[in-house]
Amino acid sequence: MKSDTLSEPPQAPPQTSEPVYQVHVFFCINERPETHWRGSCGGKRSRQLCDYMCRLAMTLGLRRIRINHAGCMNLCEHGPVMVIYPEGAWYKFETEQDVAEILRSHVVGGRPVPRLALSIDPSTLHG
Ligand code: FES
Repeated sequence: MKSDTLSEPPQAPPQTSEPVYQVHVFFCINERPETHWRGSCGGKRSRQLCDYMCRLAMTLGLRRIRINHAGCMNLCEHGPVMVIYPEGAWYKFETEQDVAEILRSHVVGGRPVPRLALSIDPSTLHG
């Protein structure tokens, strides 16, 4: 017999067979002062470029793709950066053309964009 129902672990909700989003894109929009030694994605137009991708996705009528702002992802020196799931693919971008190419090729077409891809060695991550 249970003596304390609060000690019971919470029950996970039932899982659907399909994820809500087919692709989930996270843009780092973290901003630091210009003089900060690590720099920041937000200081390099990442928020504007994220908003550009969102508008383009809406124009294209993409419904099962989610594009979100995110905080610092600890790759500041490479920024501005985004990561795309479910693959966990990292990209560096600088222009609207870069972002449009990533959306059309990787997100919609499933074809990575090697010229913008970031290959990260986890052992080099900043502590
Ligand atoms: S500020 Fe963008 S990864 Fe740190």
